[in-house]
Amino acid sequence: ATFRKVIVTSGPTREWIDPVRYISNASSGKMGFHIAEEFVKKGNFEVIYIHGNTLEKFANVPNANNISVETTIQLRDAVLKELTGDSLLVMAAAPADFRPIMTAKHKIKKEDQSGEKQGLLLELEENPDVLVQVSEHIKSNNIENVIRVGFAAETQDLDKNAISKIIKKNLNLIVGNFVGNGKGFGEIDSSVNIYALSGLIKSIGPLSKEDIAKQLVEYLLAF
Ligand code: CTP
Repeated sequence: ATFRKVIVTSGPTREWIDPVRYISNASSGKMGFHIAEEFVKKGNFEVIYIHGNTLEKFANVPNANNISVETTIQLRDAVLKELTGDSLLVMAAAPADFRPIMTAKHKIKKEDQSGEKQGLLLELEENPDVLVQVSEHIKSNNIENVIRVGFAAETQDLDKNAISKIIKKNLNLIVGNFVGNGKGFGEIDSSVNIYALSGLIKSIGPLSKEDIAKQLVEYLLAF
């Protein structure tokens, strides 16, 4: 691999409903954090760590350029801004796919002015797909040699879903894993599969996320 800059995204994004409530997901930021940390340890890369609202301990990677974002649109803007030729993008973030069409200025109340209960109907609109926009951006600006790695956290049909995301998002590789069982994305040991367009190329684990991150980075360095 010939990249010199590594951009790792991590954690969930947040989309505000009102000043105290948001839509998000259960991503902790652990995998992205350890991947960025491993690239820093290698010593010869400029590492940009763009993170949403991760757990506190995964918010800052020592000796990386740490950039904090909140919404999916902010994440997209930060990634496009950092994207240059000869770079590797590892999209470990879990962007919220939808956002409320508007954020209420004041806290939404259960009852209206007359004390009537009203329920709550939230209208959502789709967020941009960061990886799809990255591919478009690279093409329209003739940016060369950007290796794109996505993640696919699935509850079923891992191989099929992972490979269809490679095509849809125009990726070099995708890292797939099973999630769920009420454990969210979890901090427990897990296994991942690395896929290219041609299919499964490597399985890693079951191991801790730290060790999976290490092996993933070794694999990407040799890619
Ligand atoms: N991703 C992205 N922009 C989004 C949503 C996801 O770039 N708005 C990236 C993630 O960072 C990940 C990959 O796309 O690397 C797959 O994310 P996933 O949520 O599994 O895919 P979706 O396209 O949202 O598909 P679905 O939710 O329908 O399974």
